[in-house]
Amino acid sequence: MNVLIIGSGGREYAIGRIFKADPACQKLYFAPGNGATADLGTNLAISDHEALADFAQAEGIDLTVVGPEDPLTGGIVDRFRDRGLNIFGPTAAAAQLEGSKAFMKNFLARHQIPTAPYIETESIEAAERFIDTLSAPIVVKADGLCAGKGVIIARDHAEAKATARDMLSGNLFGQAGNRVVVEAFLDGFELSVFALCDGEDFVVLPACQDHKRLLDGDEGPNTGGMGAYGPTPLATPELMEKIQTRIIAPTVAGMKKDGHPFEGVLFCGIMVVDNEPYTLEFNVRFGDPECEALMPLLQTPATELFYKAATGDLKGIELRFKPLCAVGVVAASAHYPYKSTPPAAITVEAGAQSEQAHIAYAGVKREGEKLMATGGRVLVCVGLGENVRTARDAAYRLMDRVHFEGKQHRRDIAWQVTGEQDG
Ligand code: AMP
Ligand code: GLY
Repeated sequence: MNVLIIGSGGREYAIGRIFKADPACQKLYFAPGNGATADLGTNLAISDHEALADFAQAEGIDLTVVGPEDPLTGGIVDRFRDRGLNIFGPTAAAAQLEGSKAFMKNFLARHQIPTAPYIETESIEAAERFIDTLSAPIVVKADGLCAGKGVIIARDHAEAKATARDMLSGNLFGQAGNRVVVEAFLDGFELSVFALCDGEDFVVLPACQDHKRLLDGDEGPNTGGMGAYGPTPLATPELMEKIQTRIIAPTVAGMKKDGHPFEGVLFCGIMVVDNEPYTLEFNVRFGDPECEALMPLLQTPATELFYKAATGDLKGIELRFKPLCAVGVVAASAHYPYKSTPPAAITVEAGAQSEQAHIAYAGVKREGEKLMATGGRVLVCVGLGENVRTARDAAYRLMDRVHFEGKQHRRDIAWQVTGEQDG
């Protein structure tokens, strides 16, 4: 099978890595990929969707897997399908689950899927009236995609009203804030749950926890994610059953009923309050770094799982995972997430990587023999172990043997299980 992976991050590296390990995968391409995916396959400097479909057709690509949301909301799946090409991901219409918070909330309400009470509106007055019915803190969200920055948790009513006003008048986030969602604050713990869907059937991967804040103790600014681990013991079989029957199954059935069957990765951002799951958000792609933690646990061959998911054939698949836990710790560049950082050479001590620990590369480029950190989230040290603690220790042992100027990382990933906020 010839496979093309769209994207350039650690998530796409992690997906590529399991295809590379699968003997059924013959040729592996990345578009655009990064300096390290070039060691797994061939990088392509193509971004235009039609040009990518031309390439897939000309080179006999059997399966394309899309990593990030932008090409999905931009309709890459529609372009490929029009040409009869197999591609794993949602159509632009189905990708609205991530692209528009208003679409998502209205979808959840229509299909009676649990979520925080909300109002979705373009009117400042309506937003203010609803804010008065809630108790603080209050959550205000811009409707459109804002690179993860469109959610404000207001401490009191005045701040919530000011935020809604600023969004709706276009001062915050421009167009993306023309419509807002105001919702009640849910106080619990968060899970990232991924379902691979084929429009009708789905399979659920082990639940993860992400660490969105930059600093230890969940302090500092929000980031794309500084580490993740899974499966988390916080997601008991009883809770996973509720998530599957109350959230995932009705979402897949509802999308089909609404005429936008959902194919691809349904990423459910869940808040658990008193052992009851509520949907915070959907994304239509794998989380990053959750993907880097989950992929190495997969035992079912990548070609089988992703091909079946892309061709409406998931029914009856036997999804197998290694009986292990994985912890992924992100190493970011010095000024992340504030500003860019000059490139820095990466060195990995000889013998540092093993069966128990490997690197998923993200913000890197090749310069001759050297691999350079190019800023942002540079790489993820992924440790595997029979429990979360041993996996965490393996990840940190590797992290201590990976060097680049300005490297920063959290020391307390998986504190929810290890109980150690300082690693
Ligand atoms: P979203 O993009 O909607 O998932 O929001 C980003 C983050 O904001 C979530 O991961 C939560 O940590 C937080 N958040 C969003 N909505 C709520 C809510 N209703 N209650 C509490 N926290 C929330
Ligand atoms: N790690 C969360 C995300 O990818 O959105």
